[in-house]
Amino acid sequence: MGMNSHTSQPTPSGPPPALAVRGLARTYGEGAGAVRALAGIDLTFPTGTFTAVMGPSGSGKSTFLTCAAGLERPSEGRVVIAGEDVTDWSEEDRTRLRRERIGFVFQSFHLMPYLTAAQNVGLPQRLAGHRPDRKRVQALLDRVGLGDRAGHLPAELSGGQQQRVAIARALVSDPAVILADEPTGALDSATAHEVLALLRSSVDDAGHVGGGQTVVMVTHDPVAAAYADTVVFLVDGRIAGTMARPTADAVAGQLAHLDELVAEHSMGAAS
Ligand SMILES: Nc1ncnc2c1ncn2[C@@H]1O[C@H](COP(=O)(O)OP(=O)(O)OP(=O)(O)O)[C@@H](O)[C@H]1O
Ligand SMILES: [Mg+2]
Repeated sequence: MGMNSHTSQPTPSGPPPALAVRGLARTYGEGAGAVRALAGIDLTFPTGTFTAVMGPSGSGKSTFLTCAAGLERPSEGRVVIAGEDVTDWSEEDRTRLRRERIGFVFQSFHLMPYLTAAQNVGLPQRLAGHRPDRKRVQALLDRVGLGDRAGHLPAELSGGQQQRVAIARALVSDPAVILADEPTGALDSATAHEVLALLRSSVDDAGHVGGGQTVVMVTHDPVAAAYADTVVFLVDGRIAGTMARPTADAVAGQLAHLDELVAEHSMGAAS
């Protein structure tokens, strides 16, 4: 199973997809210097799926994630989260959306250096004006294998451990979707495996704390992409193709021939 941007429609009776974008476009700047970072993309991410987004540097991957997260407003198109069109929400409502419905994981972790692991995990709840749920925070730290490090500061943790804290933090509000921008970009391959296995289990382990998630992950690494159900390839702000049940070899092969994919795709679109 997986997603196909062109043919699959959400079943009218089923739950809405965790995330959908329609005609999403983003242009930076104006006139001759304008950059069309996203040129109109349609994607549906059903609940409980893991999608990798790949493409050359500058192809619009981060722009896609920041628009989906409500960090930026698209120039055109719609963003629908768990069935709700959030595109025209106010800045304030989008900030609340990010705290309560979206977990964001960054390449460089973005933990608060003066807060312990447990305090970092509880931070989104605190920022939303709630008292952190200590049991849930501890359960999430257990889940990411850091139950005994709750009182440690980020500087006292390895890179992989810090990223696992960041994933626990992303899971704390039980978000509709986890958006991760190169979450293993700063990690060695063994540590990256820990983080990817954790993201995979956050999708698969429905019924457990932090399980049943929907994950969208930008990566440059074919090995990382192979943890996903589907890979979406972006080129020049457009979808150049998708691959279901990716293997690292198949993804690497496709990345080496993205130009052909673009040619095929535009021929398909023209016919
Ligand atoms: N704030 C901005 N102002 C102007 N141009 C921008 C801005 N942010 C991104 N761009 C441009 O939009 C295009 C897409 O950028 P984006 O960051 O989405 O690429 P990316 O696929 O994430 O690349 P990378 O793999 O290098 O992270 C690039 O040409 C970039 O220079
Ligand atoms: Mg990027």
